[in-house]
Amino acid sequence: MKNLLQKSNDWEIQGISLMEIKKRFGSPLYIYDSGEIGQQIEKFKKGFIQSDLKIKYACKALTNLNILRLMRQNGLGLDAVSLPEIRMGLSVGFKPSDIIFTPNCVSFDEVVEGVNLGVRINLENISNLKKFADKYGSSIPVCIRLNPQISSQENSDKVSWWHNQSKFGISIDQIEEIERMVADNRLSVNGIHIHSSSVIMSTEVFMGAAKTVFNIAKRFNDLEFIDFGGGIKLDVGDGNEVIDIVELGATLDKEFKSFCNEYGKRLQLWFEPGRFLVGNAGLLLTTCVLRKRNGGTEFVGVDSGLNHLIRPMFYDAYHEVINISNLLGKQMKYTVVGNICEIDNLAKDRYIEEVCEGDVILFKSAGAYGYSMASTYNSRFRPAEVLIHNGKANLIRKADSYEDLIRNQIEIEL
Ligand code: LLP
Repeated sequence: MKNLLQKSNDWEIQGISLMEIKKRFGSPLYIYDSGEIGQQIEKFKKGFIQSDLKIKYACKALTNLNILRLMRQNGLGLDAVSLPEIRMGLSVGFKPSDIIFTPNCVSFDEVVEGVNLGVRINLENISNLKKFADKYGSSIPVCIRLNPQISSQENSDKVSWWHNQSKFGISIDQIEEIERMVADNRLSVNGIHIHSSSVIMSTEVFMGAAKTVFNIAKRFNDLEFIDFGGGIKLDVGDGNEVIDIVELGATLDKEFKSFCNEYGKRLQLWFEPGRFLVGNAGLLLTTCVLRKRNGGTEFVGVDSGLNHLIRPMFYDAYHEVINISNLLGKQMKYTVVGNICEIDNLAKDRYIEEVCEGDVILFKSAGAYGYSMASTYNSRFRPAEVLIHNGKANLIRKADSYEDLIRNQIEIEL
């Protein structure tokens, strides 16, 4: 988080003390910085200056309505993967045509509902494409999600999707079937899409996929855009390679231009970043409630857990951890755990400023796939969310309450 600044014995975002925020809104708490989101949008745009770039925010990363509104105010469109995500987008004023609906593994009924809402449709299997052709013919254009079938750089099996064993996308060997539907005027294809989450670390790997996409795109005459999805890796402080967005932009802009020349039309260049825009703009503030030692391991127990931030346990994801109550303390090796009744490591064998019970512990890079993947497992409440905007801290979602937990349960006579 670039705007998280150390001020004597505290940290500030947009001049607001995190200790004050904790006092006001409690712990645990998700905190987002609208300033950093704006900066990331600008950074992305600067990467691709020569192309007709359209950014569709992948709202699954963080769906708070205020974040969606912020994206709209910044001129972005939306990538939605479910009908409720579309509804959220429409409710904050996105035009249907600014929203692309990219569901995967859904019944055709869901696709029809998307069409009825007027959004752009992106399909990733032949079964639904055939039904789409039967129902709409070429009257409603459709985007095709490809599986480029290349092996990409993998940081976890759970997020490497370009290979042909993943469930996503249409295989290259199925393209002829789509071409036939188009030739028979049963289908109109307006876009080609690929997406691979979190594996794009180098321009070279990305450009390999881009060339595959361009070769396939040439086979369709009515394209309006090529959509390269999301998956742009962020620097989360773990020392791993991160793609240089300016270098990627310069290289892709050039290749895209020559593809468009060959294609005979200036197409739009789409991206669907999620984590790049909000990942480092959010953090999870927690409090150490327990210190204990088992064997040789020193544990820091916080008032949170995998129910609030599942990424470390689910993906072995790295989140930088700092103790803002003891900034000058010496670095000690800890395993930071939550209060969930199973192994719940949030950071393992990590050097952190010495921790005492009551200290405020921050998990960085928690803006993307933090709250949106949170649950009420162990019947614990999801935290509140605060957005710092124009130098003001605003509560944008209350923490769950006991009533929220039992709201939809129906007690029967037993
Ligand atoms: N477009 C599509 C079609 C997607 O499925 C996704 C993410 C994105 C764009 C945005 O990807 P991003 O730029 O945020 O990497 N929960 C995992 C990541 C799963 C991403 C799912 N799809 C995590 O916490 O790392």
